[in-house]
Amino acid sequence: MVLSRRGSGSVTLPTGQTLAIHTRTHDEEDLPHATKKTMSDHLRRFESIFTLTPQRMRMIVEAFKETLELGLEQSGQIVPMIPTFVFGWPTGQEKGDYLALDLGGTNLRVCLVTVQGDGKFEITQSKYRLTEDQKQDDGQKLFDFCAECLQTFISTSMSPEGSSQLQDGHKIPLGFTFSYPCTQERIDHGILIRWTKGFGADNTEGHDVAAMFRKSLEKYQLPVDLTALINDTTGTLIASHYVNPKTRVACIFGTGCNAAYMEDVADIPKMKGLNIDPKAQMAINCEWGAFDSFEHEHLPRTKYDTIVDETSNKPGEQAFEKLISGRYLGEILRLVICELIDEGILFLGQNTYKLESPYVFETAFLSLMESDPTDELLMIIGIFSHFFAVETTLAERQFFRALAQLIGRRAARLSACGIAAIVSKKGYLDEGCSVGADGSLYNKYPGFAERIHEGLVDIFGERGRNIVTHHAEDGSGVGSAIIAAMTNKRREQGLYPNL
Ligand code: BGC
Repeated sequence: MVLSRRGSGSVTLPTGQTLAIHTRTHDEEDLPHATKKTMSDHLRRFESIFTLTPQRMRMIVEAFKETLELGLEQSGQIVPMIPTFVFGWPTGQEKGDYLALDLGGTNLRVCLVTVQGDGKFEITQSKYRLTEDQKQDDGQKLFDFCAECLQTFISTSMSPEGSSQLQDGHKIPLGFTFSYPCTQERIDHGILIRWTKGFGADNTEGHDVAAMFRKSLEKYQLPVDLTALINDTTGTLIASHYVNPKTRVACIFGTGCNAAYMEDVADIPKMKGLNIDPKAQMAINCEWGAFDSFEHEHLPRTKYDTIVDETSNKPGEQAFEKLISGRYLGEILRLVICELIDEGILFLGQNTYKLESPYVFETAFLSLMESDPTDELLMIIGIFSHFFAVETTLAERQFFRALAQLIGRRAARLSACGIAAIVSKKGYLDEGCSVGADGSLYNKYPGFAERIHEGLVDIFGERGRNIVTHHAEDGSGVGSAIIAAMTNKRREQGLYPNL
């Protein structure tokens, strides 16, 4: 709905909850609220710690580039620069029916993708919500759940012809999008290096997740052939190129963040000795969320970022991701608010316990706060009163909105640094290139793309305008299917597993 500037209304949040909002006229009084002056003094303090100057950004880009190079040279680096065994770009003529299973940060999605060639496709899909318990329980149980959802999808969503094809003993090729860092020696296997995005399922790190999933497929006797194990960024790279051949890089800005791009095998020194044609190209899953992990030498971390890190299930890890991705931005803002509560600056005399639990302040609230179109910031009144049972003044609401802008802008500008590092390493700046981007932050956070573009101009000057991000095709559905198609073709040509 479009909010009017005054009056009442409601809005449905991404979580499915409905938020009622209404104009208030006497909201300033009775409680000892912070004054406008106090709030703007505080804002200046936060501006100085959350703002990234162009000079600082350029320093980050330089360090980032060195890290990318190191990851290509040696195995086992913090930013692992994972060779994906996705060889080169799609021709655009890939065809056929494929299943795609996407185990992302929040949902499990099953898709049937009909790839039709000429950049066309059709997709049917179902989504299943993952519980916190499933993310932390035993890994094999998680894969059993994936297989169970796949079974439900096959029996309920596939056409009778599809089902009869299956009864003939035909196995449908499946692309499994598993968006966590995995080292690969071929496309249909992958050892999980570490969980990210708050996952922690036991008995999975250090194991071949493709083999684990195959075990679950056998348990449920599913007529499916796990053809390719892919990362969401790699899928996004291939799907975006399928419809827009100018695509050179793909990024995900969602619960987690990461990028993939196409590299010349000759420029991946750690692959020497594997007998792969040096003239070939291979997609690299950078796993850039790990940039500056453990050492924390390059990124501008505030004390709130340090708390987010130290209280996470993986302290020290995913240092870049923790400043950028949707999983953490709301928590950073909540920690600032809690500090101001403790200092007696905000919500004096009010009961603030609802704001005190970790991760209750969703990143979706930052999006809503930034896009509130009303003079009185009614949306922000609604968020604080409805979810946290606290009253706010206009000065406080303006402060919260400005704080959201600082945190959101920093995330986008850091993202620009990552993109700039790849672009500059590959020499794409003058000819320009398209960057396919996907994920809730990129798609839903107001101004995220514009802020990335501004950041690229701050880093590169006017030439930064040659790098344009655009909303990517569905990498984990369509991309995964196209990669399965490319893999099957290479198999038929006898090129599997290496050229
Ligand atoms: C994972 C990546 C993934 C990214 C976006 C990160 O936490 O490590 O593999 O691509 O999230 O989903």
